Amino acid sequence: MDWTIQKAPPLNCELEVPGDKSISHRSVMLASLADGPCVIRGFLPGEDCLSTKEAFRAFGVKIERPGATSLIIHGTGGRFVQPAHDVDCGNSGTTMRLLSGLLASQPFQTRLTGDASLSKRPMKRIMEPLARMGARITAEGADERPPLRIEGGSLQGIDYTSSVASAQVKSAILLAGLFASGSTSVTEPHLSRDHTERMFEYFGIPIKREGLKVTVAGGSRPQPRDFRVPGDVSSAAFWLVAAAAHPGARLRVNRVGLNPSRTGILGTLTRMGARVREFEHSNQGEPIGTIEIEGASLKATRICGKEIPNVIDELPVLAVAAALAEGTTVIADAAELRVKESDRLAAIASHLMAMGVPVKETPDGIEITGGRPLKGARLDSLGDHRIAMAFAIAGLFAEGQTVITGTDCVNTSYPGFYDVLQRVSASREQGVPLVIRLEDDSSEGADGPDA
Ligand code: S3P
Repeated sequence: MDWTIQKAPPLNCELEVPGDKSISHRSVMLASLADGPCVIRGFLPGEDCLSTKEAFRAFGVKIERPGATSLIIHGTGGRFVQPAHDVDCGNSGTTMRLLSGLLASQPFQTRLTGDASLSKRPMKRIMEPLARMGARITAEGADERPPLRIEGGSLQGIDYTSSVASAQVKSAILLAGLFASGSTSVTEPHLSRDHTERMFEYFGIPIKREGLKVTVAGGSRPQPRDFRVPGDVSSAAFWLVAAAAHPGARLRVNRVGLNPSRTGILGTLTRMGARVREFEHSNQGEPIGTIEIEGASLKATRICGKEIPNVIDELPVLAVAAALAEGTTVIADAAELRVKESDRLAAIASHLMAMGVPVKETPDGIEITGGRPLKGARLDSLGDHRIAMAFAIAGLFAEGQTVITGTDCVNTSYPGFYDVLQRVSASREQGVPLVIRLEDDSSEGADGPDA
């Protein structure tokens, strides 16, 4: 399906976003490892997280889905069965990398496959540390690309220093560490999202954090716990930028995750001139609350160093903010963007240029000179959900029509995005905010009875 987008007036809106993708994946994993039932609410019914859920069903975990966003997971205490078929991780790097850590110790063989985009993504980053723990993982693609074959066996703990700040690498090793002898530590160059650590603690697994090092003891298992997944701040990011870059716009996002390892975008937009406030309302291991933002004439900034892992998924839409800001924004130290669902630096560069924005692509970043009017253009998603959504937001500011092609990929992380986009851009109501609430735990999308 193609999306057609026109220039829109400033947002005046209060909304909720679907459940956090990273936390939804981990909630299925931790609950499946627990010895007993767990109720998960606010689960993201996006294709990536559904791939994780289906994988655990294939490993013999009974998972009921009484509503689109609720799961009842009957954990098996870490005892899984050999799946009867290949496990399809779809587009999801998180599914493939974290499952590799977990399956490395299971007493059976598994083959993990993925779609065309996932089949191009690097797996050496997890294969190498897991091999040091004793894992037997082979990649069928060139240069350690998927599909992966995992032959489970006994593992030993390691003390690993990672060269990339990657939550997927850290989490794969920590999950393997639960089944390894001795203790397992991971040290990363900068803090990546710490959902695995927080969820380990919430589910009763002790961990030790010392600066950028985290350690878990082999043999620990999660206890059954109910859990509510907060809204995904990376999904909120699209609306945050739509509001931030428009003087007169006002936006409130409710029930969203406020984990400080994910809210870097709030600091970036504040530096660029937007007025941002956050209020924490509850904390179940993961802080949940409200973000309020008022738009402004943005100014350029520099995004680099330890800020990068904190805004890694927001950089495509922050690049759009940069195109709307006065001056040259420099994004550096972001080579990781080249190995996401697409080469995001190349995608940002080509799409901004098509919209009339001067850019300079560098090996690990991009320089964007903003402040000129954007021109509508016909842009392909390149199969990358965040590229599709970021440039849909650019379309709200562009003269003429913007068309985004190949938008089905958005269902991986944000089903319903285009519906919200249409409602937001059609709203001409002055003074009264448009309120968009999500149906909580509706039965729409519920699965039938399950094994
Ligand atoms: C994720 C970690 C990030 C992020 C991805 C989800 C996770 O990847 O880009 O969307 O859930 O752990 P890296 O950890 O590889 O940077």
